[in-house]
Amino acid sequence: MRLGILGATGWLGQGLGLGLIAKGLWPADQLVLLNRSGKAGDYADQPVVWAQDAADLCSRSDILVLSTRPEDFPPEGFDAGDRLVISFMTAWTLAKLSARWPAARIVRAMPNGGASIGRSYTPWVAPGLSGEDVGLVSRILSAMGAEDRVADEGLLDYLTALSGSGPAYPALLAQAMLADALARGVPRAIAEKAVEAVVCGSAPFLEGRMDGLQEIVDSFLSYRGVTAAGMAIAGPAFDRAMHDALSAAEAKARAMGE
Ligand SMILES: NC(=O)c1ccc[n+]([C@@H]2O[C@H](COP(=O)([O-])OP(=O)(O)OC[C@H]3O[C@@H](n4cnc5c(N)ncnc54)[C@H](OP(=O)(O)O)[C@@H]3O)[C@@H](O)[C@H]2O)c1
Repeated sequence: MRLGILGATGWLGQGLGLGLIAKGLWPADQLVLLNRSGKAGDYADQPVVWAQDAADLCSRSDILVLSTRPEDFPPEGFDAGDRLVISFMTAWTLAKLSARWPAARIVRAMPNGGASIGRSYTPWVAPGLSGEDVGLVSRILSAMGAEDRVADEGLLDYLTALSGSGPAYPALLAQAMLADALARGVPRAIAEKAVEAVVCGSAPFLEGRMDGLQEIVDSFLSYRGVTAAGMAIAGPAFDRAMHDALSAAEAKARAMGE
């Protein structure tokens, strides 16, 4: 079975293609790839098939992954036909894709930036998919990390805002901490190391402990010391900021699909 990737050299497309090969989930010579700029470096040693154009990609593939930006889709000559199609695009809803290609079995999946290192969380939605297709989709998406089928597109919009953001919110947190440290005169090299220790160094400590966050927070508060004094201010502010941010991002995801 041949798997075609439209946008195969982008952040997600390449994360998927190289992940499938590296994890032994798909033979490299059964991958058909297309981008705009031609054969690109990271597939160089692999016996992948490069399509000439979108029509060529479609005709050589049994399954299609759509990983271009929404505004670049569909390229001329693209025809999904009755294939299994997995789209990573925002804005192109299930209804829009099905209206264009009514015979296709359409899946929308929302990976995140962790895809390039096999650390994506990829929720996906596909009403009425056969058991065989469900297994194929899980296998393909697992090349980028963890994946889950979710109930409806509304939940996918919310998760696009949440997990789809990848390192964006941690980057904002790091930037805010760095800006504060620099404003107080901390030398840049010291400030950068201090912020990196908080944002990156503490990630392994939290990994796998999402069901125990309250306990972690309580343990810091129980010291009634320096960190607890800061947390008393930051806690409610973070709650409000994340609620407002995710509401705005979810609304944007929904609006882009209208
Ligand atoms: N990055 C994320 O964290 C993330 C998260 C969730 C969803 N998404 C969605 O996933 C999709 C892919 O995102 P990305 O970040 O991987 O994008 P990207 O890095 O910009 O990659 C886009 C890919 O599409 C190719 N392309 C563009 N126009 C094409 C055309 N006409 N024919 C063939 N190939 C074409 C590009 O090829 P060239 O390089 O040769 O131009 C490139 O390989 C987007 O719709 C995005 O909204 C991304």
